[in-house]
Amino acid sequence: MIKVRDISKSYDNLKVLDGINLDINRGEVVSIVGPSGAGKTTLLQIIGTLDRPDSGTVTYEGEDVLSMKDRSLARFRNSNIGFVFQFHHLLPEFTMLENVALPAMIGGKKRDEAFAMARKLIDYLGLADRRSHKPGELSGGERQRAAVARALVNNPRVVLADEPSGSLDSHNRHELHRLFFDLRRDMGQTFVIVTHDESLAEECDRVIHMRDGRITDITGRR
Ligand SMILES: Nc1ncnc2c1ncn2[C@@H]1O[C@H](COP(=O)(O)OP(=O)(O)OP(=O)(O)O)[C@@H](O)[C@H]1O
Ligand SMILES: [Mg+2]
Repeated sequence: MIKVRDISKSYDNLKVLDGINLDINRGEVVSIVGPSGAGKTTLLQIIGTLDRPDSGTVTYEGEDVLSMKDRSLARFRNSNIGFVFQFHHLLPEFTMLENVALPAMIGGKKRDEAFAMARKLIDYLGLADRRSHKPGELSGGERQRAAVARALVNNPRVVLADEPSGSLDSHNRHELHRLFFDLRRDMGQTFVIVTHDESLAEECDRVIHMRDGRITDITGRR
């Protein structure tokens, strides 16, 4: 469903990505691993259309996303791609329910509809009794699950996560990882997860190993 072709990117003299080719299938859970500075975040941001490469293409089901104009790209991103970052980036003045509903309202959904969808996801994630709390009143694990709910509220085809469990203890980390696989089973989403967590990487369908801006190996169960 996602095809990455010959992606390169440099900052000044530093070649951060050097001819990346990668196909990601629908419904796959793929992890990207590698040492710090390998280019994982840069690649994920380019796959997520948040950053542009110097050369190469990214297509989603045949659609060349890098050739889209900014406004249509923003619309495409809002409805097709969900993001989960290492730190939750929830807005502190808003409740969990409002935070989760926000991308749906930005996408043009009516307030009631956005809240109904947000409520459903929050229930699914087992956070129902915390939904009126603000981020400061939630635990780290709850905040990160709320961030996952926010990423899912527009029912995106793809969820991109950059060290989503990096700030969690082992129990919450395990719970969050299980959630990704439950979501794939229940909603059929495709996941691309940058992680330093070997136990998570092992559970994924495929593991993309990166070093110095290149893919050095692809391992996994498929
Ligand atoms: N905006 C920028 N300007 C200059 N150099 C950058 C910029 N963003 C990233 N880099 C450099 O690009 C390289 C790859 O960075 P990237 O964030 O993709 O690595 P990473 O694999 O995600 O590392 P980590 O595991 O530490 O998160 C690094 O050497 C980084 O310093
Ligand atoms: Mg990174």
